[in-house]
Amino acid sequence: MRAEQIPDRNIGMEMVRVTEAAALAAARWMGRGDKNGADKAAVDAMRLMLDTVAMDGVIVIGEGEKDEAPMLYNGERVGNGKGPQMDVAVDPLEGTRLTAMGRPGAVSVIACAPRGTLYSPKDIFYMEKIAVGPEAKGRIDLSAPVKWNLEQVAKAKGMPVEELTVIILDRDRNTEIADQVRAAGARIKFITDGDAPAAISTGIAGSGVDVMLGIGGSPEGVIAAAALKCLEGDFQGRLWARDEEDRKKAAELGLDLDRVLTIDDLVKSDDVFFAATGVTGGELLAGVEFTPRGAVSESLVMRARSGTIRRIRAEHHWRKLQGMANGR
Ligand code: FBP
Repeated sequence: MRAEQIPDRNIGMEMVRVTEAAALAAARWMGRGDKNGADKAAVDAMRLMLDTVAMDGVIVIGEGEKDEAPMLYNGERVGNGKGPQMDVAVDPLEGTRLTAMGRPGAVSVIACAPRGTLYSPKDIFYMEKIAVGPEAKGRIDLSAPVKWNLEQVAKAKGMPVEELTVIILDRDRNTEIADQVRAAGARIKFITDGDAPAAISTGIAGSGVDVMLGIGGSPEGVIAAAALKCLEGDFQGRLWARDEEDRKKAAELGLDLDRVLTIDDLVKSDDVFFAATGVTGGELLAGVEFTPRGAVSESLVMRARSGTIRRIRAEHHWRKLQGMANGR
């Protein structure tokens, strides 16, 4: 590796401008009932800003394959081509429906790590997940019963199981998991969408969430694992097949549906950078607020290697930004 390829800069500080741009664009679509419009606005803004980041990036988790996604497709080169070779995982708008319906919890996210270190779930869309904060790191096991995991987390946090809050994506496929949480005696917070920010919030003290459980998107699982690595939390996932077709696809792709993927399987490197900006306010981040001068955004910027966690409140000034765009 050449000296300029070593990721010794905090790319996160540049990446936050990327999630800010996507969040500001998507936030205009709040409550307009158009999830595709909101997503497209976020993708366009993110794509434009990504090329200002000094890196030689390849999208490993993006908007899908090239033939369905005109931008930010898996395999697309991003960044200005100079600097470290990185794998890039993006979700320009995590919570398209939340934004369209004007509900809390939508965020724009990006994570990157040295080339070849982010797991690709390929075409297997769903993953069973467990996420916890730093206190319970090393104490979880997705192959063990839900009750056992909750007891471990409760013990690690010095709390009774009955006081734990478990966040679960409200889907029929998660009914059995929810039943097991109830049988164990813990509390449940159901969300309609956005299990990546939900998983990440388990690693944030004071978020009111202790554990995230259930089956959600695989890309969101890898992104959450990257964030939890920065927060010193823990995450495990296991690819989940919807039907026979998924099972066949997994076999063809050489993906093992029984394998529990640890946080280190999902994110092999410790040099992970993560940035997220709130679109509609939720547990993790405040949403974009428009003001007479422009807008205010809140972002989280983290780097696993240094352990630095930054919250950035940015005030954006429309008139000046417009002037800069016009070369003034
Ligand atoms: P989108 O923003 O792409 O709509 O994803 C939202 C989300 O709720 C994710 O947080 C979650 O992992 C996934 O969708 C679950 O998928 P499904 O809605 O098919 O159950």
